[in-house]
Amino acid sequence: MARETWATRTGFILAAVGSAVGLGNIWRFPFVTGEGGGAAFLVVYLLFVALVGFPAILVEFVVGRHTDRNPVGALIQLGGDAWKYIGGVFIVTGFVILSYYSVVAGWFIRYFLEGFRGSYAGHLEGYEAAAAEAGAPAAELMFGDLSTGLFAFVFHTIFMAVTIGIVALGIRRGIEVATKAMVPAIIILLAGMAVWAFTLPDSGAGYEYYLSPEFSVIADNWTTLLPAAAGQAFFTLSLGMGVMITYASYLGEDRNLTKDAGTIIGFDTGIAFLTGLVVFPVFFSAGITEPGEGGAGAIFISMTQAFADISGGHILGLVFFGTVAIAALSSAISLLEVVTAYVIDEKNVERWKAALGMGGVIYLLGVPVTYDLIFLDLLDLFADGILLVFGALVLMILVGWIAPNFAVKELSKGIGDLGSLGQAWIWVVRIPIIIVLIVTLALGIVDY
Ligand code: PHE
Ligand code: NA
Repeated sequence: MARETWATRTGFILAAVGSAVGLGNIWRFPFVTGEGGGAAFLVVYLLFVALVGFPAILVEFVVGRHTDRNPVGALIQLGGDAWKYIGGVFIVTGFVILSYYSVVAGWFIRYFLEGFRGSYAGHLEGYEAAAAEAGAPAAELMFGDLSTGLFAFVFHTIFMAVTIGIVALGIRRGIEVATKAMVPAIIILLAGMAVWAFTLPDSGAGYEYYLSPEFSVIADNWTTLLPAAAGQAFFTLSLGMGVMITYASYLGEDRNLTKDAGTIIGFDTGIAFLTGLVVFPVFFSAGITEPGEGGAGAIFISMTQAFADISGGHILGLVFFGTVAIAALSSAISLLEVVTAYVIDEKNVERWKAALGMGGVIYLLGVPVTYDLIFLDLLDLFADGILLVFGALVLMILVGWIAPNFAVKELSKGIGDLGSLGQAWIWVVRIPIIIVLIVTLALGIVDY
């Protein structure tokens, strides 16, 4: 059977951007930035994306395009049979991440639907008395109320069912079209909100927190900042579990992979950065000066607060939460696609059975999260702080040391002679990145 390839020339880049841009940028980035103290985290994160994320995404691309296999098959082909156990970690990571990812995506669906029920100010009113008593913002109580329980469970179910359906049917064009519309929509929305946030009375304090790093803070806290920033960088770029291997395996040889990597990283990082430009000014203007305390609710709390203050905010809110839910869908599809491609290729199972079987188990794994957010923290920290870093590390070892010969040649296809840059890339992968990842992983394990 001939392996499928992308339907259109832009299919790959759209799907890869669709995978990258998701809850990692809009939900996870603001709250881990808040937990990391704002600007200090931002600096470490941006450095990590540029110095490790960029070379690492190229590694996944060349592995996928060279082997034309799912990530487990690719590792076996390059490293030998023993690597199938390591490849198995990718599959486990996909399971873990998608299980809670779907629950969070469900929250976005819920908040989207709230927009139809009238203004967010109206919703917050219901929580005001209790909020005054607890000394917490009403939007925080609202999030506490909506994030677990029956509806969280129902929306998790709906989101997972849609994800499974799309992967089972192998629909590519739909994802490509959705990404084409969703990325500009998110950018326009966030940029507009950022401009609005700029006009808030205490926006200055928000910018100060988010954008003005104190280098002594970084120096004092690097042992916690590094694993947190690394986990966020891999998560947001969909790295360390084979998504980019899988997507590149459906790829022809004429694409310039460095250019595509730049495009993906540019969009992904830009959208995360913009999200921060909205969330932190809103937080400080709402009197929340410890943005880390919002935890997984940060984006919901700040956005409901914002939409409650803007006239016609429920329309904006509906568009915002809805668009993010679609962004989450294209990422969730990529997560399930890795797991499904593995079962199809290696176990010879039909696509729909593979998607339904794997998706079903992942769905069940997510159910406890709808009951208590403690499970979210546990799964999220385990996946991002440990599994993704581990996955990236073993890939770097494989390509840097065990099978380096194909990599530069593969990268040069579609670009032309790389000159000494190709060698420089391999050497960066071989030594500095591997050392950084070993340190990061050790710190991550200690943290956990
Ligand atoms: N990158 C996605 C996001 O930012 C999440 C993701 C992680 C997708 C790992 C695939 C693999 O939302
Ligand atoms: Na992302």
